[in-house]
Amino acid sequence: MKNRIIIYFTAILLVFTSSLIAQEEKENLFVDSLLNKMTLEEKIGQLVELVTPKSVTKKMLSNGNVSSILGIKDADLANELQQIAVEESRLGIPLLFTNDVIHGYNTTFPIPLAEASSWNPELIEEACRIAAVEAASNGTHLTFAPVVDITRDPRWGRIAEGSGEDVYLGSILAKARVKGFQGNDLKDKSSIGACAKHYVAYGAAEAGKDYNTVDISEITLREIYLPPFKAAVGEGVVSIMSAFNDLNGIPASANYFTLTQILRNEWGFDGFVISDYNSIPELVNHRFAQNKAEAAAKALTAGVDMDIAGNDIKWSVYAPHLDSLITNNIISEDILNESVRRVLRIKYRLGLFENPYVDIEYYKTNMPSFEERQKTALQLAKESIVLLKNQDELLPLKKDLKSITVIGELADNIHHPLGPWNTAPILENVVTPLAGIKNYVSENTEVIYIKGCSVEGIDKSEFGEAIDAAKNSDVVIMIIGETREMSGEAASRSDIGIPGVQLDLVKEITKTGKPVVAVLMNGRPLTIPWLDESVPAILETWFLGDQTGNAVAEVLFGDYNPSGKLPATFPRNVGQIPLYYSHKSTGRPFNEDDKYTAKYLDVDVTPLYSFGYGLSYTQFEYADLRTSKEFYTKDENIDVVLEVTNTGKRNGEEVVQLYITDKFASVTRPVKELKDFQKVFFKAGETKKINFTITPDKLSFYDVYMNKIIEPGEFVISVGGNSHDYITTLFQIIE
Ligand code: BGC
Repeated sequence: MKNRIIIYFTAILLVFTSSLIAQEEKENLFVDSLLNKMTLEEKIGQLVELVTPKSVTKKMLSNGNVSSILGIKDADLANELQQIAVEESRLGIPLLFTNDVIHGYNTTFPIPLAEASSWNPELIEEACRIAAVEAASNGTHLTFAPVVDITRDPRWGRIAEGSGEDVYLGSILAKARVKGFQGNDLKDKSSIGACAKHYVAYGAAEAGKDYNTVDISEITLREIYLPPFKAAVGEGVVSIMSAFNDLNGIPASANYFTLTQILRNEWGFDGFVISDYNSIPELVNHRFAQNKAEAAAKALTAGVDMDIAGNDIKWSVYAPHLDSLITNNIISEDILNESVRRVLRIKYRLGLFENPYVDIEYYKTNMPSFEERQKTALQLAKESIVLLKNQDELLPLKKDLKSITVIGELADNIHHPLGPWNTAPILENVVTPLAGIKNYVSENTEVIYIKGCSVEGIDKSEFGEAIDAAKNSDVVIMIIGETREMSGEAASRSDIGIPGVQLDLVKEITKTGKPVVAVLMNGRPLTIPWLDESVPAILETWFLGDQTGNAVAEVLFGDYNPSGKLPATFPRNVGQIPLYYSHKSTGRPFNEDDKYTAKYLDVDVTPLYSFGYGLSYTQFEYADLRTSKEFYTKDENIDVVLEVTNTGKRNGEEVVQLYITDKFASVTRPVKELKDFQKVFFKAGETKKINFTITPDKLSFYDVYMNKIIEPGEFVISVGGNSHDYITTLFQIIE
């Protein structure tokens, strides 16, 4: 019987493998035969993306000078341009339409950093699926997302676009997002291609200044910054965007080591690489190329296949220079052919040769309903909220309070909840915090809104009115933080405190003696030690998209018990940055009794809120953490079990986090690293057994020769509700 089963499964595997091989052969044949028919001009055309349709002429399309267009958000226009490419160009190669669909297309979901706070990959995948179908229905074939840059510097504005500081969480969410955009079948009309960006180490910009230099060791590159890209490649991502930054002396958009040696040769990536906007001509500014022709040669040779040329073909570097570079034998045509092959391959995989046009009718019947899409947006928004402080259980608030004062510019503005990077948002869909609160309270509750002050600026003229209103209410909700323009690209800040006079206003309001709830809206961790000390309740809501107000209200009034956990550390002040939980031990680990240890004279060494931190309206207790045995060989899985109890009076979800510490190693290892997590629902009083399986790869690390190894020795497992409070157990790896 057993033999028969083995034969049966081997047969299935053989059929499956041979069908994959057949598919690959068919694809190669198609691509190669097309390539053989192409002129040099047409080949170069396949490596050019223009931005916005205004820059594209009919002649360029019929000549085959353009491969791709960024920024079309209209199915009719997409079809019109596609028709010229398909019907009027010599070879009829379809155009590829791209957009930056970062956190939603029409439906705006929370910013990616907020989504990461949900620690819910399935829900994030669902949101990306919705974004994909909305984008596809308007003509998009490929999104420049996900952003998988790890960053440990909250000054960097683009922290808002990614998943925060952690390699493991970042890799899991990279996969979820690629899966959400691409679905199970790239040709499905509800799928779009994904593009993992910005390759690589863009988030390590010195001093958190956007576009700045990165100089890190190869071990750090491989341990921290590459894994989320590798995870995306493993999930079948079809494209990668090369970054703006200098990386160890070689700009990322001309870096053969990362673009070819690692990405293609080591990982086997066979999709295409597109440059970031203008990053090829910027090789001249890096002083890495003397002119644009040299920049084009260096980028293409390193492995950048497509050039985002900007608004005008004359800004392209590939279009005007590749011809002479090839005819003068400065670059071989084989290199060009390989890049063209990669682009054609992805167009083929996306099904563009079979179905180049947007099937407008299809989306009329196959688009998830508005209600379904907003339901996912609301669920994700609620799960993205992190409760940072809740002294004396001030929250949740009662719905039948007599009077509530809501203060802050951010409370009553429909733009800011959208956060940075929106594709095609629908402003009428945005529920502001004020609207959400008003919808929620009982008929007998009076909600008074006073702006009090703007996010930026020094005007305090409305302070008096805000103070008077506060004095007459049961509770004051202050919606404070950053504008949506204060994070995202080119939005680094050197002071990441709460801007303007907002804190001065909070100080005045607290003097009234009324209970104050601070609701933060922002795109990065902020330095808020005073707030933490002085205000009884603080909610971190980031930018939550369309459903902001409803999500905030559900949490404030207790219809949703907050479960979000921070994906990035909150420092006490800017001087502590970079501050992250998985730091190294140092030769003098911090010891408060010993002056000569790693610390500061003027600030506590700990963060204000650690990675993984977030409170709930209930409490969880961790107990009885065990492995199934004490000794394991290097290739064995390690089974871990523990018990978690909801000891409070409310139902709630907890993100159970598992960290590992390799106690001693031939290369120094972080003090702990997240290696698994589960988001689990508990009824009040309920105890659940939680099981984890640690696979051997989770114990491995790069040695100095860049081999991934596992060393024998003792390991600590720490499991808890954040990276700071946990219970531990030990196990050993033996030869
Ligand atoms: C950004 C990319 C984006 C591109 C195209 C650049 O400025 O860095 O993230 O995909 O523009 O919009």
